[in-house]
Formats: sequence, structure tokens, C-alpha cells
Amino acid sequence: MRVAVVGATGAVGSTILGVMRERSFAAEEIVPFASERSAGRTIDWGERDLEVVALSAESIGGFDLALFSAGSQISAEWAPRFADAGAVVVDNSSQWRMHEDVPLVVSEVNPEALDSHRGIVANPNCTTMQTVVALKPILDAAGIERVVMSSYQAVSGTGQKAVDELHRQAEAVLEARELPAPGVYPHQIAFNVIPQVESFKDGDDYTTEERKCMRETRKILGRDDIGVSATCVRVPVYTGHSVSANVQTRDPLSPDECRDLLAGAPGVTVVDDPANGLYPLAIDAAGRDDVLVGRIRRDPSHEHCLNLWIVGDNLRKGAATNAVQVAELLGVRGLLRLAA
Ligand SMILES: NC(=O)c1ccc[n+]([C@@H]2O[C@H](COP(=O)([O-])OP(=O)(O)OC[C@H]3O[C@@H](n4cnc5c(N)ncnc54)[C@H](OP(=O)(O)O)[C@@H]3O)[C@@H](O)[C@H]2O)c1
Repeated sequence: MRVAVVGATGAVGSTILGVMRERSFAAEEIVPFASERSAGRTIDWGERDLEVVALSAESIGGFDLALFSAGSQISAEWAPRFADAGAVVVDNSSQWRMHEDVPLVVSEVNPEALDSHRGIVANPNCTTMQTVVALKPILDAAGIERVVMSSYQAVSGTGQKAVDELHRQAEAVLEARELPAPGVYPHQIAFNVIPQVESFKDGDDYTTEERKCMRETRKILGRDDIGVSATCVRVPVYTGHSVSANVQTRDPLSPDECRDLLAGAPGVTVVDDPANGLYPLAIDAAGRDDVLVGRIRRDPSHEHCLNLWIVGDNLRKGAATNAVQVAELLGVRGLLRLAA
């Protein structure tokens, strides 16, 4: 199999390459693509060095699979071109997620949606991804009427430049130097909490990230009737998004039943012993592929509501790991159009 990794030098792309290596992904050839700025650079991939290539009409032919993480604009233009040239594209950007004929897939939640793909499969937004992994077993067992989610999102969710910005600002604060002007976020992120993830488009009072969480959750769970309300917040954490979810079920579900359900669910690890200081932490989730869930408790204001604290590595399960898992599923389900 020939695999293209588009955006291979970025935060998600480099994690995709790492995850493929860890999982011994069955590829005869892997070609990393990035911008002209990075073309010719080599990436150390264990036993082989991979040379970075720029996107061009000549360089995109003969691939079976293309894993994209180079932003929406690049995906809008190049994902259909790779698909036309014979590859199945798994795209991390938001460009194709809500298109009717593009499946939006989380490997543990709705793998069957892959069967209808027409060349492009979308990977969900990172916050949505980790949340639906925890919601799906609850939906299947007790039905879900409504979810109120509040996120605490790490800066690596905005890419490498945001990680660098937090680092530079934190150093400046600690050394009592004047802070460089914010470049990535609208405000200082070091030692701050910003209730804005992405932008307020066309005068909307929800951000584009919040709209994505609400729409994508319904599409992945296949249920338009679930009420979803999201508030997305950026916090000065390098890696690992945390989500506080208030889940209203249709049928009664006790915290103990929910804990048991999630303990047996794929991709979930329950960490829930608050009396001993055990609950999911972003620093513990970083580097892991499973989603950590804890603080499972009854909402005292509603008998059918539970509160959960859901933490995941935004670069791994929130992006790279799910993309590679989807690629593996495409192979297992015979859904790749293998180039001759
Ligand atoms: N970070 C996350 O947690 C996360 C989670 C889910 C989804 N996503 C999505 O994944 C995508 C990438 O995010 P990221 O955080 O990895 O961003 P990033 O660190 O800024 O990386 C962007 C990548 O795109 C490449 N690129 C930029 N312009 C290009 C061009 N003209 N042609 C080819 N490649 C080009 C960059 O190459 P150069 O190095 O050459 O500039 C780099 O490899 C975005 O759509 C983002 O929304 C991110």
C-alpha cells in the first residue's frame, strides 16, 4: 500500500507518522507532504528517512490512502484531487465533515458509516471525538435526550505555533519581561483562560468550534434529536482536552451503572476514585490513545442527568490515532481502492 501523509510536518501529521509506526501500519511506502517551505526536508521514521514533498499535480498519483492534516483550504483543493487519482482520503480538517456524502467516523462509535464513503472520510473535531467515545455506550444503554458540554482545550489543538506562543509567553511572565503581543490567540494564553475557541463567524454568539461540537456530535451518533449545547474554552495546557459533560438520559441510569458501562466500553478507561485524588487529568491523558472518564456523579438538579469529566489527547485520539484507526478499518472492511 502507498500512503500519503499530507501536513506531515505539523502537530497532527507528525503524530500520525508516529502512530503509524507504533501500530506497524502495513504500508510499503509512505510519502510525507507539506508546504514548499518544508519540501526536501527529511523526517526520521525509524529504519527509513522520509523526504518531504510539496503538493503538485505530478506528485499525487498512485496512492491507496491519503491522511490529511494540512488545514481546510488544502483539504478543499487537494482531497478531491487525491480521491480522483484513486486514493481514499481521511481528512482531519473541518472542510468535509458536514457534507452529506462524507462519513464522519469515530472508530469505536460508527465504523459502519465507512461503508458508504465516496473517496473522502472525515475525522471529527478533537473535542467532539473524545466526548462521543464516552457518550455512545450511554446512548445505547439508556438513550440520550440532551448533553451540555464545556471544554477546557489545550493549545496544541491549534497547532505547533500555539504551543510555541504559550511557551514564549510563559517564559516572559516568569522572567518578568514584557510579553510579546499575542499572535495566535486574541488574548494572552499563559496564566489565562480564554472563553473563545476559533471565531465568532458572521455575528454568531457561538464560536465555530462550539457549532462543530454541536453538529458533529449529532451526525456521529446518528441522532438529530439529541439536544447539544457547547461552551469551548482555551486553557494554558500543552496537550489534552478536558470536557465537563452533563448528560440527560431518556431512561434512568445510576452513576454506578454508568461507571460499569464505560469500564467495558472500547477506547474508554474509567479513572474514578475522587476520594483518593483519582480522576482524569490532561497530563495523564497526553500520550495515550484511550479516553479517560471520571467524576461520574448524579446531577442533583435532575434525576435523569449525570455529570462526567472526559479527558483525551487531542493530537492522538482527537486526531491522529482515530485517522489511523479509520485507515485500518478501511483495509479490514475492504474499502480501499488499491492502486494497480
Ligand atoms: N491539533 C489538533 O489537536 C487537531 C485536532 C483535530 C484536527 N486538527 C486539524 O488538523 C489540521 C492540521 O492541524 P495541526 O494542528 O497539525 O496544524 P499545524 O501544526 O499548523 O500543521 C499544518 C501542516 O500543514 C502543512 N501545510 C501548510 N500549508 C501547506 C500547503 N500549502 N501545502 C501542503 N502542506 C501545507 C504544514 O506544512 P509546513 O510545515 O511546511 O508549513 C504542516 O505540515 C487542521 O485542519 C486542524 O483543524 C487538529
